Amino acid sequence: MLDNFAREINYLRVSVTDRCNYRCVYCMPAEGVPMHCRDEILSLEEILKVIKSSTKLGIRKIRLTGGEPLVRKGIINLVQGIARIPQIDDIALTTNGALLPAYATALKEAGLKRVNISLDTLKPDRFRQITRVGRLQDVWAGIEAAWEEGFEPVKINTVVIRGFNDDEILDFVNLTKKLPLHIRFIELMPIGVSDKFPADKFISVRQIKAKISQYENLEVAKKLAGNGPARYYKIPGAAGSIGFISALSDHFCGQCNRLRLTSEGKLRPCLHSPQEVDLKASLRLGLSEEELAEVMRQAVLSKPEGHTMNARGWGDNNRTMSQIGG
Ligand code: 5AD
Ligand code: SF4
Repeated sequence: MLDNFAREINYLRVSVTDRCNYRCVYCMPAEGVPMHCRDEILSLEEILKVIKSSTKLGIRKIRLTGGEPLVRKGIINLVQGIARIPQIDDIALTTNGALLPAYATALKEAGLKRVNISLDTLKPDRFRQITRVGRLQDVWAGIEAAWEEGFEPVKINTVVIRGFNDDEILDFVNLTKKLPLHIRFIELMPIGVSDKFPADKFISVRQIKAKISQYENLEVAKKLAGNGPARYYKIPGAAGSIGFISALSDHFCGQCNRLRLTSEGKLRPCLHSPQEVDLKASLRLGLSEEELAEVMRQAVLSKPEGHTMNARGWGDNNRTMSQIGG
């Protein structure tokens, strides 16, 4: 359906858990965030009911996120259930990759089409520092598992933070020469923990591009499947590509096609607005799919035109990224 700003809303991002097996320094405080218990988050059946209802508004694409979606019990069954909904033509997953070696085959068989893997550094020691607990080799094994299962394209999400990993921008670019990886450099958003970061940690897409252009000529690349807000470029002859997601410096609200569902069943029309609609309450009152769709339709009509976030913060947000799902 169209929202009030003539945007076609056809994409739902579903956070299936706020738990994560990593503790990335820009996403979670060291002690973790208070987790919701089983009753507070939507059951798999409830998630499926929301997705079925959402197809009545024209949702055609689903992305599963977290926290880390692969730590949710029953995730394979959920993918299977979504794949059986005829109106849904694309199912993707955003993961830190650590559990992909164990799950890739089952996910493929269940009907998952594509994966995005988060990876902010290529150095093992630094990987441990950023994730606090992770091992780089696990994520590499995850990337290889994704290739072996034929998930295509494999996209890598790299959040660039000054003094953390900005010295590796070219190493990531070089990876795309030989490997069919699609690296997406993401501007740090001041959400949750990173809202407290000093402003100089933020690097704009323009600065990232300028750094790359000193060494490489980038040409515009063709659109990738599931193309969202990233703009893609490549080094001539390279196997992979490079994308930029400039949530802050050049926001893409005008083309936004998405809704978000948090793990506790709140429908969020905009990542950057604290406004939410409580679908869990509606579900537990026993609303039918039709009635639920009507509640969602109203939420779409309340979707704001855009955000006002900047590198100094976004003011009135109420959740961390692991709660909203990116
Ligand atoms: N700014 C930008 N990206 C973030 N992510 C998590 N927190 C932030 C933030 N503050 C990214 C993760 C993952 C995706 C879901 O969101 O690295 O790739
Ligand atoms: Fe987990 Fe992703 Fe947050 Fe890292 S950024 S702690 S992998 S949810």
